Amino acid sequence: MVQCIRVPKRDGESVRTRLLDDGILDVSFRISAEDDSLLLPILIPVEGYETVERDLRPQDRPVGDYRSVLDLPDGLGDLLPVSFDVVGDVGMIKVPEELDPFRREIGEAMMKANRSLRCVFSDSGVKGDLRIRDLELMAGEGTSETVHKEFGARMHTDPAKVYFNPRLAGERHRIASMVRDGEVVMDMFGGVAPFGIQICRFANPKVAYSIDLNPEAERFALINRDDNHAEQLVPITGDATVVAPTLPSADRIIMNLPQIADRFLPLALDRLNHGGTVHMYKIIEREDFPTLCEEMGAMAAENGHTIEIETFELKTYSPTMSVYSIDVHKM
Ligand SMILES: C[S@@+](CC[C@H](N)C(=O)[O-])C[C@H]1O[C@@H](n2cnc3c(N)ncnc32)[C@H](O)[C@@H]1O
Repeated sequence: MVQCIRVPKRDGESVRTRLLDDGILDVSFRISAEDDSLLLPILIPVEGYETVERDLRPQDRPVGDYRSVLDLPDGLGDLLPVSFDVVGDVGMIKVPEELDPFRREIGEAMMKANRSLRCVFSDSGVKGDLRIRDLELMAGEGTSETVHKEFGARMHTDPAKVYFNPRLAGERHRIASMVRDGEVVMDMFGGVAPFGIQICRFANPKVAYSIDLNPEAERFALINRDDNHAEQLVPITGDATVVAPTLPSADRIIMNLPQIADRFLPLALDRLNHGGTVHMYKIIEREDFPTLCEEMGAMAAENGHTIEIETFELKTYSPTMSVYSIDVHKM
């Protein structure tokens, strides 16, 4: 069953456009009709409309499949990546070497199939401690600075200067919905503060600190704080291992540095209040995950903490690895 809202047909197009602009329309399902209303699939409840559950059909093929509008020489079409990243009005795609001579055509096809794209960059992957991307313009105009809409929030960012992952929108919403009134929240690896922004919008924390090594992260986080009226957000530039011990102890700590987040767990548990939760993300071989969970329990005990762990597989990372979401509760 899919969550949706019933909208009179005459208002359908304007509401659909608004939900799409605000990042609230669930584009993985098809819109359907019921009597004189349209059923619009949604990611979160929409003010002014009752949420209903219906059995909607999934989209048959990815929205804006650019491969169908691109004519490449024989055999090369099979090398085209199925998916690409979109942040705001910027598309980013990893182009295989064999397709280098067709970069402009690929970028233009992506823009043709996805009318909301202003420009397309080739992306050679996320690199270094700051997790930023090496981008080269393939089609369209302007820089990679953009505004990404997520559940009605406006996230100002630039993937060439600071990390931002639009695919974590659901996770941010899950965590924001757990935050109780007056909590002290700390994101140790905050980027442009998407977790902090959603927490301030959907909950009522006392304060949400958002720490990042990258000064560009603080610059964008301040813009995001002002644009989203997230007054409780406090962005801080610095190394989390140095900054976290200087802040008040927290009720909730977020650690999204999935290659090495577990190394910071002892520090996070020291800075966490009893009854609080660390939300961490970890990329690991699937067969090694149970051992990691045991080691985390043992490490906490060595440091004098008792913890309970809840986990789920967030997404597949490679044929043998996954990204896990791990909620660590301190007793
Ligand atoms: C994977 S990104 C997560 C950003 C953000 N939480 C999000 O979900 O968009 C990790 C961030 O950690 C920052 N970082 C890496 N090492 C750090 C450290 N020791 N202290 C603070 N920030 C760090 C990087 O600059 C990067 O922005």
